[in-house]
Amino acid sequence: MGLSALCPGTFDPVTNGHIDIIQRASRCFERVVVAALENPAKTPLFSTDERVAMLKEAVADVENVEVASFSGLLVDYASVRQIRIIVKGIRAATDFDFELQMAQMNHRMTGIETFFVPTSPQWSYLSSSLIKEVIRFGGDVSGLVPDFVRDRLEEKLSPGRE
Ligand code: PNS
Repeated sequence: MGLSALCPGTFDPVTNGHIDIIQRASRCFERVVVAALENPAKTPLFSTDERVAMLKEAVADVENVEVASFSGLLVDYASVRQIRIIVKGIRAATDFDFELQMAQMNHRMTGIETFFVPTSPQWSYLSSSLIKEVIRFGGDVSGLVPDFVRDRLEEKLSPGRE
């Protein structure tokens, strides 16, 4: 059997940048498990179920991708799923320090490897937080997230809705 990879994240919500990384990982690995962190401490805008549902819709056309959620340590979830490689996108040097720390800590704990994929330049400035801020103040995020994600964001966050 070929190699599997884990693409973890908060995905609050999924953006075109995430989708690009997932699609590219799916071309390098036999199976990709996209895992949304269930994190009560972070109080995301979208519930775990909503984030997983949006991810599933976003990658529905990619055959070898499965979407799931996890809680607790990523390395423990990886062990349960028998996956030995984490794939993370790196947008810019500002991402690198923390991603490197996490990769090294994860490796120290179980020996799991992290492969960094450079984000495609057209998505390098994108983040879920920035997307939410733009929507909150009435801006248009079309083309930066799938249309159905934009619609769900507008339902929750457009000015006057909060
Ligand atoms: O989308 P994000 O916020 O970059 O994703 C970060 C995530 C979910 C990958 C990271 O916070 C994580 O792995 N959390 C699970 C808890 C854990 O394992 N923490 C130790 C990391 S060294």
